[in-house]
Amino acid sequence: MSSSPIFCAIDRPDPAGALTLARSLNGVVGGVKLGLEFFCASGPAGVRTVGEAGLPIFLDLKLHDIPNTVAGAVRSALALEPAMLTLHAAGGRAMLEAAVAAKREAGAATWLLAVTVLTSLDDGDLADTGISGDAGAQVERLARLAVAAGVDGLVCSPHEIARLRRNLPADVKLVVPGIRPAGPSGDDQKRVMTPQEALAAGADVLVVGRPITVAADPAAAAAALLGSGPSR
Ligand code: C5P
Repeated sequence: MSSSPIFCAIDRPDPAGALTLARSLNGVVGGVKLGLEFFCASGPAGVRTVGEAGLPIFLDLKLHDIPNTVAGAVRSALALEPAMLTLHAAGGRAMLEAAVAAKREAGAATWLLAVTVLTSLDDGDLADTGISGDAGAQVERLARLAVAAGVDGLVCSPHEIARLRRNLPADVKLVVPGIRPAGPSGDDQKRVMTPQEALAAGADVLVVGRPITVAADPAAAAAALLGSGPSR
């Protein structure tokens, strides 16, 4: 297995295409991320199919419900032996603790990762939901809550890494999307860093989707990512 810190986000619904892509990346990336688009279309059976590629799987399900329901969902998801599984820190302390307890009871090695504030939300969007102040402060508040509840790590944007590294225990894992190679990019990620910058800032795992998945040669694109220079 590759020791690369890169997990490739396979944002597509079909298991056959996802398996072909995952197979082509075996030995080049550290694993693959399957999210809600894939899981809603293809479910646990689809996850098992992609697992045939032999790569660790990051199951990005962003669980958020009452504690009992989330604990049950964690138990069900752990049957798929994902390397990582996400839940929303905004679900609150009891929900986070129930998820952590379910993981510990299962004896699973899976990293439970908390999502704080979605990067699609700005200060105005947060104000609409009754949360005043800046998004960065809310990210830190939710991160502290999740870490106190016992999660293994957090999903955060590249520009949150430094603040979280300053304020959280060093063993908290930081898993970071919004990664782009140096040079122009035509897609919708606005606040990006190169892989080197994010790793230097303290990221443990980098989530990269389209720079790999839309490339003519995904394996070559993934390999090249760790050799790219400074961001725009
Ligand atoms: O294609 P791209 O590299 O932008 O894909 C990034 C992946 O990380 C997508 O699956 C996206 O949903 C996810 N993600 C993100 N930003 C966040 C959280 C998750 O881009 N804040």
